[in-house]
Amino acid sequence: MERRTIGAAALAVGAVGLGCMPMSWAYSGSRQRGEESLRAVHRALDLGSTLLDTADMYGPFTNELLVGRALKERRQDAFVSTKVGLLVGEQHIVANGRPGYVRRACDASLRRLQTDVIDLYQLHRADPEVPVEETWGAMADLVRAGKVRALGLCAVGARGRRRSGGLHDATIRQLKRVQQVFPVSAVEAELSVWSPEALDTLLPWCASRGIGFLAAMPLGNGFLTGTLRPGEGFEPDDMRARHPRFTAEMMAANQPIVVGLRRVARRHGEGVTPAQVALAWVLAQGRDVVPVPGTKQERWVTENAAATALRLTERDLAEVAELPRALGSWD
Ligand SMILES: NC(=O)c1ccc[n+]([C@@H]2O[C@H](COP(=O)([O-])OP(=O)(O)OC[C@H]3O[C@@H](n4cnc5c(N)ncnc54)[C@H](OP(=O)(O)O)[C@@H]3O)[C@@H](O)[C@H]2O)c1
Repeated sequence: MERRTIGAAALAVGAVGLGCMPMSWAYSGSRQRGEESLRAVHRALDLGSTLLDTADMYGPFTNELLVGRALKERRQDAFVSTKVGLLVGEQHIVANGRPGYVRRACDASLRRLQTDVIDLYQLHRADPEVPVEETWGAMADLVRAGKVRALGLCAVGARGRRRSGGLHDATIRQLKRVQQVFPVSAVEAELSVWSPEALDTLLPWCASRGIGFLAAMPLGNGFLTGTLRPGEGFEPDDMRARHPRFTAEMMAANQPIVVGLRRVARRHGEGVTPAQVALAWVLAQGRDVVPVPGTKQERWVTENAAATALRLTERDLAEVAELPRALGSWD
């Protein structure tokens, strides 16, 4: 697989990573498919999809434990990215950015991941009660202690933003503050054909400073693959059951986006899929961009890894740019 070197700390990874979240969190059936998920992780490493993206809150904790089972056997093949700063309760998720907590959380992640060092440690969300510089300073100490190789920041998502201002204004403000303390190597934010907002300000901001970009949700939570049917419904523990773009009405209204991706896919041959076009589009947004499609299935890992061989033409990119804007928003 093509490799990409991203960020100030020169993080070398396969061009398409693996988002491990659906193996343990936020998607239907996540908790029952441990062995299949483990096979998916191994498949990714076999194919050169080295970047495994997890977080202590996925599960919570079980996703890191799962990734740890693979790392125990083949740490050298993997680049592990995990996250700190969000705590899951019975009915809520809260931020915790206190330095002492960050130190303890890192040690716990290292234990679960069965490794001595985390390649990329990301701040999942800033704690409104703690100056972000303090949290980041504690994370920088972890780099100095050799427990972490590089630091990343996750963008405030569409759900968490204030209504005024651009989607990524708050994230850029945080980035400016933490950069004063210790270099940011990567930013993780949603970027996909139906959520391209990061192209406006966040990605150019990162690119001009040599900060790598991990594209979260590059398949539009599965919608852009064309495998989901409007009205099929989602189990209550699936985040899409509450997502404004996944009502039967909005899924039907957004079908022209999938139709457009399928049209581009057909031009590239019989076996090419809308998912691969969606990933190739993300890859085409810059040399510092690495999509992390999430899946718990080996077959999708294989399909997604093959997207690195797909080169979209100017005509393809122009067609994708002309697709209708997605309907359904958190506002
Ligand atoms: N930093 C942050 O705040 C943040 C936020 C969200 C996500 N993330 C990261 O980004 C990763 C990706 O986001 P995501 O997993 O939510 O969304 P995604 O990658 O856009 O979509 C995941 C969904 O697509 C399905 N899928 C994957 N490949 C497919 C294919 N080739 N054909 C058909 N269906 C396919 C998966 O199905 P199966 O589940 O059945 O395999 C899953 O339901 C996460 O895993 C996580 O690591 C980070």
